[in-house]
Amino acid sequence: MFGKRTQTGNAAPPPPAAPAHSQTVALKERAAPSPVQSSGGMRSQLLDVAPPASRRAAPPAAPAKPAAESARGAGRRDEAFYERKSQVFGALIDTIDLSQLAALDNETAREEIRDIVNDIIQIKNYAMTIAEQEDLLADICNDVLGYGPLEPLLARDDIADIMVNGAKQTFIEVGGKTIETNVRFRDNQQLLNICQRIVSQVGRRVDETSPICDARLPDGSRVNVIAPPLALDGAALTIRKFRKDKLTLDELVRFGSITPEGAQILQIIGRVRCNVVISGGTGSGKTTLLNCLTHYIDADERIVTCEDSAELQLQQPHVVRLETRPPNIEGEGAITMRDLVKNCLRMRPERIVVGEVRGPEVFDLLQAMNTGHDGSMGTIHANSPRECLNRIESMIAMGGYSLPSRTVKEIVCGSVDIIVQAARLRDGSRRITHITEVIGMEGDVIITQDLFVYDILGEDVNGKLIGKHRSTGIGRPRFWDKARYFGEEKRLAAALDASQGAEPEGTFR
Ligand SMILES: Nc1ncnc2c1ncn2[C@@H]1O[C@H](COP(=O)(O)OP(=O)(O)O)[C@@H](O)[C@H]1O
Ligand SMILES: [Mg+2]
Repeated sequence: MFGKRTQTGNAAPPPPAAPAHSQTVALKERAAPSPVQSSGGMRSQLLDVAPPASRRAAPPAAPAKPAAESARGAGRRDEAFYERKSQVFGALIDTIDLSQLAALDNETAREEIRDIVNDIIQIKNYAMTIAEQEDLLADICNDVLGYGPLEPLLARDDIADIMVNGAKQTFIEVGGKTIETNVRFRDNQQLLNICQRIVSQVGRRVDETSPICDARLPDGSRVNVIAPPLALDGAALTIRKFRKDKLTLDELVRFGSITPEGAQILQIIGRVRCNVVISGGTGSGKTTLLNCLTHYIDADERIVTCEDSAELQLQQPHVVRLETRPPNIEGEGAITMRDLVKNCLRMRPERIVVGEVRGPEVFDLLQAMNTGHDGSMGTIHANSPRECLNRIESMIAMGGYSLPSRTVKEIVCGSVDIIVQAARLRDGSRRITHITEVIGMEGDVIITQDLFVYDILGEDVNGKLIGKHRSTGIGRPRFWDKARYFGEEKRLAAALDASQGAEPEGTFR
């Protein structure tokens, strides 16, 4: 069969297989030299020792199916499936030379594996339906060529996060809900091998001596691995899937994360060069929201972005994108977020956008906000606007500055204009719960005022939360002058006014 493919040069699904004995003949008769000659040779050997009866009982090979279908097939899996898979896999490894397989392009390699696996199934005389065979085959191809059992999950667009807790347990987050899947790894070693394959793409290594590693998949998804001995039940792998089509503010409105009026306020905040901190928990939608806000930056502004892993997709023509660098295997050469933010001040940016502020770089960002880079933005991990301010203060302290607390608060107050709070609520929905202004100091306390909030009012019969977004009645926010400078004050006043008497969405139980 391999000979056939080299002749045609394409990767079309094979036609229904001839009875196995004629296949053997075809293999033996093959004259053309092939890059995986040894695998073909070994395969004929394998067929030769098989009992003829089992070969005759061979089911026809099935046409290729899309990945999604084989992922659905996963629903039927049981212990017997995994047992059989491990036997077929073992036989396959004995039969082919993996290094030669690696030299082939993906499609050809898949076809080669398909042929051999079909042969093995015949020889071992497994009674399997075509769907089961295809399922098994897809799994084995994924193991040998890709990210193993993770492949079907990686192929799905509806998944936000994949969380693997050792070989036997994998959770995904879909539509805001965390659910357990039936994805399993053969054993912890297979899981670790896949982790290794992922991190080796970015030149890193994960093993007992360096058990913690951040990496990225070729599609941009962010990966974290923590391996034994630190992870007690096998490697823990966390993948934040990269969405190419980032959500827009219109979509957030459609999902009910914010009202149209709230979205207008955000658009204005993005445009009129307010200094914004987006606050929220893990996966609450901070980065998504930051990306949305950057849409409204005028096209002629020079923007520098700093990220741990490039996620933002700015539309403007004049953007410089920077990314931090982890240390190499010897623990050297790290470039931290702080290094980037500091450097970006020397790059004549008009705005600085920091993907995720986690540490002392907050001080440099605040300084940037304070010194003529109005309209800078960043995200911070905190559960409320008030907590966000506290986090900023403690992150400044992490930088080792011995500034009096009041001075720190004054710096924060003089830099941050707006805190936008994102939250993932207990029913899995994501909402923008606060648009809050920092308005000044009273004594030693930073004073804030909410412009726009989300009130939770109750629950419906399905456990979905019912709530409403409303503006708090502040007619003239502190950033009014900035809005006026950009000619946005009328739109701002209208948006603030229109959302005062909003009706709650949903029906109470
Ligand atoms: N308002 C929303 N509604 C539905 N899904 C959202 C919303 N905001 C973000 N998401 C999705 O949630 C996931 C996490 O979002 P992200 O912005 O990366 O979170 P964070 O930066 O807070 O960790 C992404 O898959 C994203 O597409
Ligand atoms: Mg993020």
